Amino acid sequence: MREAKIIENKKVLVTGGAGFIGSNLVDVLLEQGNEVVCLDNFATGKRENLQIAFQNEKFKLIEGDIRNFEDCNAAVQGCEYVLHQAALGSVPRSIADPMTTTDVNIGGFVKMLFAAKEAGVKRFVYAASSSTYGDHAALPKVEHIIGNALSPYAITKYVDELFAKNFSDIYGIETVGLRYFNVFGRRQDPNGAYAAVIPKFVSEFMAHNSPIINGDGSYSRDFTYIDNVILANQLAAITPTADFKERLKNYSEGIGKTYNHESTISEVFNVAFGERTTLKELVEILKGTLSKFDPEINDVKISYGPNRGGDIPHSLASIEKANKILGYQPKYDIESGLTEATNWYWKYLG
Ligand SMILES: NC(=O)c1ccc[n+]([C@@H]2O[C@H](COP(=O)([O-])OP(=O)(O)OC[C@H]3O[C@@H](n4cnc5c(N)ncnc54)[C@H](O)[C@@H]3O)[C@@H](O)[C@H]2O)c1
Repeated sequence: MREAKIIENKKVLVTGGAGFIGSNLVDVLLEQGNEVVCLDNFATGKRENLQIAFQNEKFKLIEGDIRNFEDCNAAVQGCEYVLHQAALGSVPRSIADPMTTTDVNIGGFVKMLFAAKEAGVKRFVYAASSSTYGDHAALPKVEHIIGNALSPYAITKYVDELFAKNFSDIYGIETVGLRYFNVFGRRQDPNGAYAAVIPKFVSEFMAHNSPIINGDGSYSRDFTYIDNVILANQLAAITPTADFKERLKNYSEGIGKTYNHESTISEVFNVAFGERTTLKELVEILKGTLSKFDPEINDVKISYGPNRGGDIPHSLASIEKANKILGYQPKYDIESGLTEATNWYWKYLG
């Protein structure tokens, strides 16, 4: 099920549009009749993710790099909104190669943001990350309370937030950061050293191999289905400036902070479902959904390994700010999201 039309008849740039989240955004925006430009260098993205988009005459692919200002500039011309998804994801990747992650996630981010400002883009919506909460133990996570970063990746995503705020202050471009919490769904890559836990476990169950849980399975995450993320991006782009400011004022007063009405919009929001699921519960739900396609999956044993360095025990978002200011109400909980996701994996990988 797709959301009602909300971004319509606009020209939108999706960076990282060949990736998991970006390609899903591209498809929905095209379905809604928008003109969509995708800037991607296929570092982790795939051409096959753009199969539907390539059939649409309102779609344009610019194969280029966000570290190259000319590419950013060419891509953003005439766009009203930018949905900036391009980055090198994965905490372990950033620990193995902090230099490339920093070049792309900070250097590329600044180039894209500056190109957007130069081109007169109305609002720059970007993928931030729950990793910004770092070692702060409080649950649920609220946007204005963060801890120390635990990885180069987390630092890059937090630095992006600082640049976004600063560019809003000095140049006046509106910026909205969306701190995604463990996103999952169709097209998320199950392969490779840096695969996320849900697609990795799905492909292991499908091959009748034991999924390995890092630790005793008690760690928990606020797993977020892709369509909730698409909804949040659209709301972040189209919420009118005046409404945004008014609601932000009320929200800020509610949490005892002052908000300067004169300032340009520059905010960050948690994007999640707002519930946490342990890894043990996750594998049981996955087993249940996948056994409907292949009953032998019921007999696949779960293995346990050591905890992974840098992993925080628990993650859970407060989605109150996104709800109050953007009107964000996620439709998919973990069960309904996993049902959709496993249907997709079975159809395309089964
Ligand atoms: N998936 C999650 O759970 C999650 C959680 C928090 C934040 N995020 C953020 O969301 C965004 C999208 O993540 P995803 O899961 O879809 O990852 P993904 O790897 O599938 O997509 C990233 C896309 O960016 C492209 N890209 C990378 N470097 C580039 C460069 N130098 N120039 C142009 N394009 C480049 C890749 O080719 C890919 O298509 C990223 O910014 C990521 O950090 C994701």
